[in-house]
Amino acid sequence: MDQGKIVRLGFLGCGNIGGGVYHLLTDMHDEILRRDGLDIQIARALVKSIPEARTDVPAALLTESADDVLCDPSIDVVCEFMGGEHPAADFMEKALLCGKSVVTANKMALALNWHRLQTAADRTGAGLYYEASVGGVIPIIRSLTVSLEADEVDLVMGIVNGTTNYILTKMAQDGSSYGNVLREAQKLGLAEPDPTADVEGYDAAYKLSILSSIAFHTHVPLKSVYREGITAITADDIAYGREMGYTLKLLAIGKKKGNELEVRVHPTFLPASHPLSRVDGSLNAIFVHGKYCQDLTLQGRGAGDKPTASAICGDILYAATHKGCHTVPSFRNIEGASPEISFVENWQSRYFVRLDAADTPGVLSAVAQAFAERQISISSILQRPSEDGRAQIMLVTHEAKEKSVQAALAALDPASVKAQSVIRVES
Ligand SMILES: NC(=O)c1ccc[n+]([C@@H]2O[C@H](COP(=O)([O-])OP(=O)(O)OC[C@H]3O[C@@H](n4cnc5c(N)ncnc54)[C@H](OP(=O)(O)O)[C@@H]3O)[C@@H](O)[C@H]2O)c1
Repeated sequence: MDQGKIVRLGFLGCGNIGGGVYHLLTDMHDEILRRDGLDIQIARALVKSIPEARTDVPAALLTESADDVLCDPSIDVVCEFMGGEHPAADFMEKALLCGKSVVTANKMALALNWHRLQTAADRTGAGLYYEASVGGVIPIIRSLTVSLEADEVDLVMGIVNGTTNYILTKMAQDGSSYGNVLREAQKLGLAEPDPTADVEGYDAAYKLSILSSIAFHTHVPLKSVYREGITAITADDIAYGREMGYTLKLLAIGKKKGNELEVRVHPTFLPASHPLSRVDGSLNAIFVHGKYCQDLTLQGRGAGDKPTASAICGDILYAATHKGCHTVPSFRNIEGASPEISFVENWQSRYFVRLDAADTPGVLSAVAQAFAERQISISSILQRPSEDGRAQIMLVTHEAKEKSVQAALAALDPASVKAQSVIRVES
């Protein structure tokens, strides 16, 4: 076999994902050499502590010094698998400034430091690649930056967090409470001991900042993303929503109308016919709509060492054969939000509202009146008796402004009717 072009990699971090990448590249080494003419060599791998390293990567490759990776002139591509914002972002910037291309799976460091990293890459002509930072193996970054570059995308909507999708799916299947399913997910290793980043929507918000920036060719800073998690969701919400034909998902939604953008992460009801409503368990999926491509859905494993390694190694081979091709010509990656863009806060949506009401005449008409007075029309309604002699009233509105719905609920007499949940509905 030909010797091929030697490409030396340095890993920053070698845990779950670093180990997965090591194994893929070892397993596929000869095939990649034969197919692509690349002799991929792993030169060094940074860990916090060699004696405590959680990896079966050969000990001779491990180091506790970042400079062994960043300052080694023989290393061509730096692969960042440490996680967290710092020092990961600082190390990546240093590598780029040394002219080394960087491959990362770190949505947090990227979403919060993207402009800085791209500026460093532009200065030296190094590449910055991040396919695995959103949706694991799903090739959404390349789809948006390459395949759909000529189109005008007006919607990206995704299930981009496997932990929350697992929890909501289990709550729907078993009728279990959020707390019980979370504990079970933690035992199975599907949720972190501290689940905040997942269940409060932070992880999805980082990913939406990245996705919507690329999809809409403008920088969408994290602080412009509205975020609401799943901790207040009850099994009743899910069950009643299902009776009305809806499935609950934590969605990351980016919408563009002219120069107005909506970027929001929150629990969302989808009609059972929507492709994302059938994406269950820890799977991820992203739905895109564009002027020419129309509807497009990509689905796959959003996490796990093997699927994530597959996406990362695609980036590594690309980085090994291209220089400075890390950005879309039309993406304005500036420091803050693009001045021509305005972010909508009082967005228009449909709403699912669950009310706890006294089971007496006149309550339903008072609710209908409060909504009608604010030009909110109701598309469907469901009433069920509750155990304490009261009633649960669930209604789904037609499109309405968020603030009008809040005003209608605030106008209800709390002695007879109280809002239990308000959940946005997409179609
Ligand atoms: N896990 C997934 O399925 C998945 C999917 C997509 C993207 N990602 C992203 O991939 C990245 C890595 O995730 P992971 O699951 O592989 O994490 P992990 O298992 O916790 O591994 C992190 C690695 O980085 C090392 N490290 C962390 N901080 C360090 C520091 N300050 N100095 C030196 N070494 C340090 C750790 O060393 P020690 O072993 O010594 O602690 C470990 O080797 C994250 O950005 C994550 O968001 C993960």
